[in-house]
Order: sequence, then structure tokens, then C-alpha cells
Amino acid sequence: MALRKLIAGNWKMNGSLDGLSELDAIAEAAATHSAVDVAICPPATLIAVAVARQPGLAIGAQDCHSAATGAHTGCLSAQMLAEAGAKMAIVGHSERRTDNHESDAEVRAKAVAVINQGLTAIICVGESAAQRDAGDAVAVVTQQLDGSVPVEADGARIVIAYEPVWAIGTGRTPSTADVAEMHSAIRARLMALLGEGGAAVRILYGGSVKPSNATELMAVADVDGALVGGASLKAADFVPIIAAAASI
Ligand code: PGA
Repeated sequence: MALRKLIAGNWKMNGSLDGLSELDAIAEAAATHSAVDVAICPPATLIAVAVARQPGLAIGAQDCHSAATGAHTGCLSAQMLAEAGAKMAIVGHSERRTDNHESDAEVRAKAVAVINQGLTAIICVGESAAQRDAGDAVAVVTQQLDGSVPVEADGARIVIAYEPVWAIGTGRTPSTADVAEMHSAIRARLMALLGEGGAAVRILYGGSVKPSNATELMAVADVDGALVGGASLKAADFVPIIAAAASI
């Protein structure tokens, strides 16, 4: 079953009110290529204003706390993100797993909070360079899936982003054969974890996706879209990636 592709941009700690003008061309491309879903995850301070500027474009968050409210200074709950207009939230990005020492259990709790709020959870997984060199990439990602995916959830509310840590922001990407092997292993694991619901989960590839490699990456079996960092900041880079996904 071919799933609708999702091209999601992760602006990380980049972007400003001025930079929101990039959303205009991105929203136009999303409307033109209506067979593809498009989303932008700006810094949380820009979510509400991004939604107001382009109500037709899906806007998401880059993280969320697992609790609904409470004494968690500086954190945002899924409920708050939903109120700001977010339709999805990234959880367990490798930068948060590393910088904030987030465990699989924490990532799963965040995903549950996101889904319970009626949003889509983009759960990130991916191996380090050392783990791949040791031949452990599939085992590492399988273990992350086992720990991070809420098995009771509706598969349509879950998106997995496979992002090899060594490919993020480096300009390096795995071979299409390696992407195919990993995405097929992820699909098999999702079917084991979620049953038939595993077929509805979109599996994105992320890590140095750009206009020049998007077509070949999006054509790989079980690649249902992309999570794009650097190349999502400018419409001139992001729009061709949307078009590439639409052309498959
Ligand atoms: P990149 O980042 O596209 O800049 O490599 C991807 C990500 O971290 O989601």
C-alpha cells in the first residue's frame, strides 16, 4: 500500500518573524502538489504566528513535555502546542536524545501525550556512525522502536523518522540500498509492534536531504517522505524537495 508522502521541515533553533515569509512559497507548493503532505516545524515561539500567516499549511512543534501541566519550567505540553495551532510534534530527535539525554521511555511518553492531544507524533530514531560501522545499525534502530513507539496507538497518528545521526547536517547520506534495508526493517518491526496498524505508519528518511538527492531517496521502497533540516529553511531548497516527492 502506498502511503501519502509527508515532507516535513525541521527548522531547529533557526528562523525568525522575518523568515516566516518563506512559508508563503512553501504553502503555495503544498497547495500545488496536493498529493503530498507538507509541514513545517518552526521554533515554538513562531508556531501561532506561522499558523496565522498560512492557515492551510500544517505547522508542527519540535518537542513537547509528556505531562499536561505542572512544575516544569521552560517546557511546553502537547495541549499548549495544540492550542497554538500545531498539528504534529517531533519527539526524540537525536539532538534532544544527545543534548537532553532523552531515553526511549521518555520519548514514548512524549509521543503518547502528543497522540492523546489529537496530534501526530513524529518519532525519530537512528544509529551513530560507530554503531553503523560495527554492523549494529538495524539492531540499534529496532531497539529504539521497541522503546519509543506506543504500541496501543493508531498507526495513522504515528510517523517514524529514520535519521542516521552521522547524516544529520553533514551532507552525507546512506546509500539507497542501506536506506531500503533500514526502512524495510522498520516496517517489519512496526507490523510486529502494532499489528495491521503498522502498515499505516509513515516512515520518513532524514539526514542531509536536499534537492539533488530527494528524488532518489523518495523513490526507495517504504520511504514515505522526508524530515528535512537545513534545506527546509529556504523555500528555494524546500520546494524542489516537495516537487520531487510529488513526482514519484
Ligand atoms: P538536516 O537535518 O536535513 O540538516 O541534515 C535533518 C534533521 O535533523 O531532521
